[in-house]
Amino acid sequence: MRQRTYMKLLAVCGTVFFFLIVLTTGRSSAVAPQGNPAAEWQRSKHANRETAIAEATVERRGTLAAHCGRCHSEQGFIAWVPQLLAGDYGLIKKPDGSAADVAYLQSLGLTVDRVRPITCRACHGDDFELRIRDNTPMLPAGFEAWAVGKGALCMTCHNTRNGRIQWDTTDPGRYTAPHVSAQADVILGKNSFFLNDTVNGASPHAIFTSDSCVTCHLTLGKNGHTFQASETVCANCHGPSMRIDFVQKPIETLLEQVKAAIERRVLAVRDQIGVVRKWDPATDQYTENFPLDGKQITKVAEILSIHGQISFRFTLADGTEVYARAGEIWDQPNGRRIFATSDPILRACWNYLLIKYDGSLGVHNPSFARDVLTATLKALR
Ligand code: HEC
Ligand code: HEC
Ligand code: HEC
Ligand code: HEC
Ligand code: HEC
Repeated sequence: MRQRTYMKLLAVCGTVFFFLIVLTTGRSSAVAPQGNPAAEWQRSKHANRETAIAEATVERRGTLAAHCGRCHSEQGFIAWVPQLLAGDYGLIKKPDGSAADVAYLQSLGLTVDRVRPITCRACHGDDFELRIRDNTPMLPAGFEAWAVGKGALCMTCHNTRNGRIQWDTTDPGRYTAPHVSAQADVILGKNSFFLNDTVNGASPHAIFTSDSCVTCHLTLGKNGHTFQASETVCANCHGPSMRIDFVQKPIETLLEQVKAAIERRVLAVRDQIGVVRKWDPATDQYTENFPLDGKQITKVAEILSIHGQISFRFTLADGTEVYARAGEIWDQPNGRRIFATSDPILRACWNYLLIKYDGSLGVHNPSFARDVLTATLKALR
């Protein structure tokens, strides 16, 4: 009972507050009133300094901070944007064009005590304008985005960042996984194997929503600068009958089917496995030449990326788990690799991770997500 009164009071206060905001800002109530960007940002992963410290400092990464620091720190991003706009999406360079060394990265502030995460200043320039809008320059994922409004800013960081793949190659020649930030690739329909990604596969969600990412994650959202999209955002444009699970459910089903198909392929050759370079998630260390009797593998519990490489988590008959990168599984020490880079299983794993890491379960680009996964299933038949 007391709680009800409290809720009523809250509702009244909320309404009064709402009208106060509408009155003072003169905004129409069609646009959700913006709250407090600083407080919202604080709750978002953009404010996560831990990742910035782990990935974007010279103490932890050495000169590799010139790689990860581009998107994982305010200072790195600000140093990188002019270089990117000039056509070089590569690692952060010194103003004279030479590779950044530790001293230069230190001078930018990519150190444990000074590094900053994705702050207001990372996105907003001195005049408060967004640093990038409408078009992106060539991105580390090997494509440009055109006329995507304010979403261009987000796409600059939220892409797979491992170069353009050739969709119909029979041997990618590497074990690279897409980076966890696969949103721009997926929404624009890029970087899929088995499915022709050189035709126009961009989602209307990318190109006919005015500001793409920003439209759903900020403008129509209720969570402001947390940039969390709401599950009911669809109704804004499609009417109340369009529900998020209309897209997410079939895509989840297909993701499970692709994973099962990959697992079948792995189990079919498990008897050949004799040794792996084992990875320990607790210590982030590897054990060389770890003997693994493949016959003991009962399950591929997870397909994942370990330090940027396509990897598996195996479950063994006795219940223990072993993590290994796909390119570090052999028949015997210094022996033959079980999975060559030309094995379709690796292209299938890339596609699986592309759609999984996008994080929207198909919402960003429903048809593309479906087509990638069905093409993958056909390739594994
Ligand atoms: C082109 C931009 C870009 C570059 C370069 C980049 N990342 Fe990321 N990374 C992102 C984005 C964006 C996310 C968040 C993706 C998401 O949550 O969907 C992310 C997420 C991560 C995460 C997951 C963080 C978490 O809290 O779950 C790790 C770990 C990571 N990156 C490591 C690295 C490392 C290591 C490097 C350098 C070798 C690197 N990244 C380079 C854009 C980038
Ligand atoms: C990840 C990028 C990003 C970060 C970080 C960010 N903003 Fe924004 N901000 C945006 C975008 C995109 C808009 C929408 C711009 C527009 O509509 O022109 C925006 C709009 C705003 C607005 C205009 C009112 C509104 O909410 O639409 C204010 C004020 C603002 N930001 C303040 C901040 C502050 C303060 C911080 C840091 C605490 C911050 N922003 C961090 C991207 C960002
Ligand atoms: C400077 C690079 C950068 C820009 C620009 C950027 N992001 Fe991010 N974003 C990141 C990184 C890095 C993370 C993950 C941080 C972590 O996990 O520690 C992230 C995380 C997120 C997350 C949380 C993901 C999760 O797994 O919970 C969302 C949502 C997001 N960003 C949306 C946006 C949107 C929308 C924009 C454009 C307005 C944007 N970002 C612009 C780098 C960026
Ligand atoms: C049509 C609306 C829409 C557009 C456009 C859109 N998103 Fe999303 N996004 C969503 C929805 C809905 C989800 C799923 C949220 C859920 O399942 O709870 C999502 C999920 C995500 C996630 C992972 C879940 C999270 O919030 O932590 C990230 C990161 C993300 N989007 C970033 C982006 C980026 C970057 C862009 C532009 C390249 C973009 N989105 C464009 C609606 C959209
Ligand atoms: C900002 C407006 C906007 C929002 C929000 C939005 N959509 Fe869309 N969506 C569009 C437009 C525009 C099209 C293309 C025209 C059409 O098909 O009606 C489209 C097309 C689609 C399609 C067909 C696309 C394809 O790939 O073939 C599906 C499915 C879809 N939306 C589902 C959703 C779901 C689910 C949500 C919520 C999670 C959502 N949309 C949120 C604007 C939006």
